[in-house]
Amino acid sequence: MKTLLSIVVLFFITLSMQAEDGHNLWLRGKSSSTVNVVSSKKSVTIDIAKQELQQGWQGVEGASIVFTVKPDKQIKGDGFKLSSTGIQANTDLGILYGVYELLRRQQTVEIIKEEIVNPSYDLRLLNHWDNLDGSIERGYAGLSIFWPKGETSTVVTEQDKTLWKEYARANASIGINGSVLNNVNANPKMLSVEILNRVKAIADILRPYGIKVYLSVKFSSPALLGGLKTSDPLNGDVIKWWKDKAKEIYTLVPDFGGFLVKASSEGQPGPQDFGRTHADGANMLADALKPYGGIIMWRAFVYAASNEDRAKQAYNEFMPLDGQFRDNVIIQVKNGPVDFMPREPFSPLFGAMKKTSLMPEVQVTQEYLGHSIHLVFLATMWEEFLNSDTYQEGKGSTVARCTDGSVYSQKYTAIAGVSNAGLDVNWCGHQFAQSNWYAFGRLAWNNKLTSDQIADEWLKLTFYQYSKSNADKISFSVDWKSDFLSPVKKMMLDSREAAVNYMMPLGLHHIMSANEHYGPGPWWAPARTRKDWTPPYYHQADSLGIGFDRTKTGSNAVSQYHEPLNSLFSDLNTCPETYLLWFHHLPWDYKMKSGKTLWDELCYHYDAGLQQVRGFQKVWDKAQPYVDPQRFADVQSKLRSQSKNAQIWKDACLLYFQTFSKKPIPYDIERPINNLDELIKNDMKRPSLIDY
Ligand code: GCU
Repeated sequence: MKTLLSIVVLFFITLSMQAEDGHNLWLRGKSSSTVNVVSSKKSVTIDIAKQELQQGWQGVEGASIVFTVKPDKQIKGDGFKLSSTGIQANTDLGILYGVYELLRRQQTVEIIKEEIVNPSYDLRLLNHWDNLDGSIERGYAGLSIFWPKGETSTVVTEQDKTLWKEYARANASIGINGSVLNNVNANPKMLSVEILNRVKAIADILRPYGIKVYLSVKFSSPALLGGLKTSDPLNGDVIKWWKDKAKEIYTLVPDFGGFLVKASSEGQPGPQDFGRTHADGANMLADALKPYGGIIMWRAFVYAASNEDRAKQAYNEFMPLDGQFRDNVIIQVKNGPVDFMPREPFSPLFGAMKKTSLMPEVQVTQEYLGHSIHLVFLATMWEEFLNSDTYQEGKGSTVARCTDGSVYSQKYTAIAGVSNAGLDVNWCGHQFAQSNWYAFGRLAWNNKLTSDQIADEWLKLTFYQYSKSNADKISFSVDWKSDFLSPVKKMMLDSREAAVNYMMPLGLHHIMSANEHYGPGPWWAPARTRKDWTPPYYHQADSLGIGFDRTKTGSNAVSQYHEPLNSLFSDLNTCPETYLLWFHHLPWDYKMKSGKTLWDELCYHYDAGLQQVRGFQKVWDKAQPYVDPQRFADVQSKLRSQSKNAQIWKDACLLYFQTFSKKPIPYDIERPINNLDELIKNDMKRPSLIDY
């Protein structure tokens, strides 16, 4: 009997350990008591809200929670009024968001008092760069959750539906309310009947959770898919084609959100191919969707292979069009003026286009930040970006306030994050990459949250369950806080700066290798490759110094920033050192604020980054008692790879730049352990240094 019991116990322990593969994300709360839910309103969404509350309730045994759906002017959009006895909202979805907030506060042991909680942005979207063949551009967590491998089947399976439901639930729990289902480099077949039927199936599963679907479209679809002679946005047949397509889509998906468009950018077709402007193209599409309430998110990520500094081009192209867009067009602008680098100043378009709706686009998938190998918590980067002051309407005109309706009244306010989710069992490839999905949703809901609070919440929701089931305690123990929460949170909060240090410190940017955008490649510049795709274009290292001169003596990109920023960035005394080589080309022996030369400072930054990652390894190893074995080992192994990679970044960049500076690496710094010629040789052979 005893042996049988042990086998049964062992079986259940094994089962529960297997379940710790990360698939449950931050949704691990289980009810510890019963709750009575009272709602006069009935709907699928209200049913989900009820069920969630009953499954996750950790409040007073037998308490009653009343759902009230009724209009209240203080409650905005999807917002809600929370109290310890109920949730009130304008919509059913508001009730669901209120439930998730209530549960989060119970699980993280935060106060629940009467309070109105309104979202910062109306539209909080994930952009999936998923292709119809199942691959994901810049995806590092397996294949697409939406599109079957190899484009062979459009059949929707029960497995698909389960996964989409889990995905919708995860998004709703953090307030995300829209998903663009395919790559911005869009396939025209996306708008074919077969694919649209699958879009309908996805929309049907996502709808009860309040997630609207959107599609990326190829501007030349009328010609490529419709067989028309042109895709000129002012051509009558083209206009009709889009109108008919809109009707077809809305018949299948009545609450379809709209289109995302990458046009006249990186080889994608666009209105400029027909001598038209971005406004002509966007407005034509906006008119087609207008009758159904759809929107157009038109991307400002545009640049041509020209002599003009790439960082200036989006501003140059879009500023003259301010005020010319329909009110259902939103210009989607990447956080920085170049591309999702580890650190960039904010794009000068924010706050500058005063008569046009603008939405920020950030990248949740870590294209330039170590893919799903490096532990990099991105909330600190987004916080820095959202809090950047544009000065466009005086001091305090932060990017957040310029885009959330506080400074300019916009018909729609929105924010987008390029998703990191894929078919990997833990969704994101790295257990800690889940925190970036979580952080994006939380910041989209509340752009004033601090990264500290987000990390705190995420760690409690994601890891406490394990310790709790072991220690059988309701609240967070003192040990758990001091030995797990604080050091691991600190590691998360330091992780982005560490990556900047070992990859691109002091304002360096775009010095990664070739097309994978993973390892270092400051030397990478094959003949016949566009100059603005090669690192030497950006770092400009030579025997005299390093950095991109964007002041008056150089490209004058500083002039696109509102005063006092223009002067502040131009002046070496006031330019933040974090952006120094973004705006200035400086001699190797330039004196830094620390008193060190620029060369020495660069060396210390690279080394500091590497040492930080080694420190993260120690933090994680010490946290072992508090983490289930599977997730512990996963993260431990990724940190080892990150450490090796940080060493490679440091060695590659320092040894390469040393060929110009001709100066010794300060002797108190650990010596490089790789040879430059080998690093360069390996880089050219793909796959290279990457050990995944
Ligand atoms: C980056 C990225 C591309 C992507 C592009 C975009 O350049 O490397 O894969 O298509 O951004 O945002 O459109």
